Amino acid sequence: MSRIIFESDRLAFTSWKQEDLEDLLDLCQDDQVMRHFPSTLDRSATQVLLDRLIKNYQDHGYTYYRLQRKEDGDFLGFCGMLYQSGHSVLEDNTDIGWRLVSSAWRQGYATEAARRCLEIGADLELGLIDAVTVRDNLGSIAVMKKIGMHFVKEFDNPKLAGSGLNPCLLYQIEL
Ligand SMILES: CC(C)(COP(=O)(O)OP(=O)(O)OC[C@H]1O[C@@H](n2cnc3c(N)ncnc32)[C@H](O)[C@@H]1OP(=O)(O)O)[C@@H](O)C(=O)NCCC(=O)NCCS
Repeated sequence: MSRIIFESDRLAFTSWKQEDLEDLLDLCQDDQVMRHFPSTLDRSATQVLLDRLIKNYQDHGYTYYRLQRKEDGDFLGFCGMLYQSGHSVLEDNTDIGWRLVSSAWRQGYATEAARRCLEIGADLELGLIDAVTVRDNLGSIAVMKKIGMHFVKEFDNPKLAGSGLNPCLLYQIEL
């Protein structure tokens, strides 16, 4: 049975299965990919992430979808929406996020994926969508701007205190 939930020109957006752990682990253990996060993720932290991606889809009908290139079926990372709660600075809300394998960067994939996800988010009537990044993550900020998100505020995330990664930026879009 196909795992594909929807598609864009070059990408297929799929659900997650436990068998995707090794691909997700490769992504989350890449120092370049995780440069703007406190650390790479070990196997148990990646398992927690995978379980969350699966559960968010079951509970809310959306997730950070698994991305697959249509041309060759290669795993490219993830992009999509996730419900975020219990943040110390921000309201509980749905955010949009992306993490791509470094070999796929700078080819317009994140922008293509995020635009398609916003269409899906509108179909799901998700309303206000957040996106958060550290200020140094120029690639992520460029994607936010390209998909029409607007800057709301700069803030320090207490979870990043002492990491040198603060400040963070909040962008939003109303679907
Ligand atoms: C951020 C990320 C998703 C961007 O993916 P991508 O597929 O390279 O993005 P795109 O090709 O769609 O590029 C979108 C725009 O960002 C620009 N851009 C991409 N990476 C950039 C970088 N490192 N520095 C500056 N601009 C960058 C591109 O030039 C493009 O702008 P343009 O069309 O005006 O030229 C990717 O670098 C990534 O996965 N990074 C690691 C994970 C991460 O940081 N996720 C976000 C956490 S908030």
